[in-house]
Amino acid sequence: MQLVTEENITELAVERWATAGDPRLAELMTALVRHLHDFAREVRLTEDEWMAAMQWLTRTGQISDEKREEFILASDVLGLSMLVVQMNHRLDPRATPATVLGPFHIEGSPELGYADDMSDGLPGTPLYLHGTVRDLEGNPVPHAVLDVWQADTEGAYESQIPDIDEARLRAKYTTREDGSYCVRTIAPLGYAIPMDGPVGDLISRTGISYFRPAHIHFLINVPGYEPLITHLFQEGSDYLDSDVVFGTKQELVTPFEPRAAGPTPGGGSSDVPWLESRYDFVLQRRD
Ligand code: BEZ
Ligand code: FE
Repeated sequence: MQLVTEENITELAVERWATAGDPRLAELMTALVRHLHDFAREVRLTEDEWMAAMQWLTRTGQISDEKREEFILASDVLGLSMLVVQMNHRLDPRATPATVLGPFHIEGSPELGYADDMSDGLPGTPLYLHGTVRDLEGNPVPHAVLDVWQADTEGAYESQIPDIDEARLRAKYTTREDGSYCVRTIAPLGYAIPMDGPVGDLISRTGISYFRPAHIHFLINVPGYEPLITHLFQEGSDYLDSDVVFGTKQELVTPFEPRAAGPTPGGGSSDVPWLESRYDFVLQRRD
């Protein structure tokens, strides 16, 4: 029998978790045990601090439901989500880079046509976002579905608003034969991540800015290509260099150019001044 000491407990716990039947699970769990024990030793974790951490984790679970992913938010603000994205999407430098999915994507958005309006009369400055989807060699990718979602001008996503029965600021657009797409929406604004839960409690005890710069989310999943989950950010937006979830990349920043009332992409016309942004998404083929 081997009795436990402060010196041997890590080794004993690692040995125990190494018995996992799946070798990858054994690798993950033994590394987790080693890093957790190293952390506790490094900071000389007190019992009060350990209890505060357990209670924080409990609250994080309790506030989560099918619409609120507080653990994912915690991973996002710790920079873990973005690290995992970057390690798993080491794309060719010519390809559009990936960023975090975030907690607000909803499956089953309505399909809209070229330049159709996904903002459906919501207040805001009209924005036409258009360009092409192409491959690394510049060839157009036709029939690519762009799943698009964004917050309103108050910073609220559909899933944060109770009792909504219609899709709000989200839609699927399909590229034409020449790879072109056109999203008609309203200009997004920067917004605060949800601060009314345990993640917000922790952040408010730091000097961390809890805002994200103005952005629109895209999920582009085309058979034969690496799936792309990304955002476009408005050039000049506040918080570009302090995004609380570390999701901002230079290649994803695009200008929103002001245009006078009049003709718009897709053959329509706007009675009010509008914004235009051109962006070409570049997909990488799967090996
Ligand atoms: C978002 O952009 O929707 C988002 C991403 C991560 C955390 C919170 C919000
Ligand atoms: Fe967002």
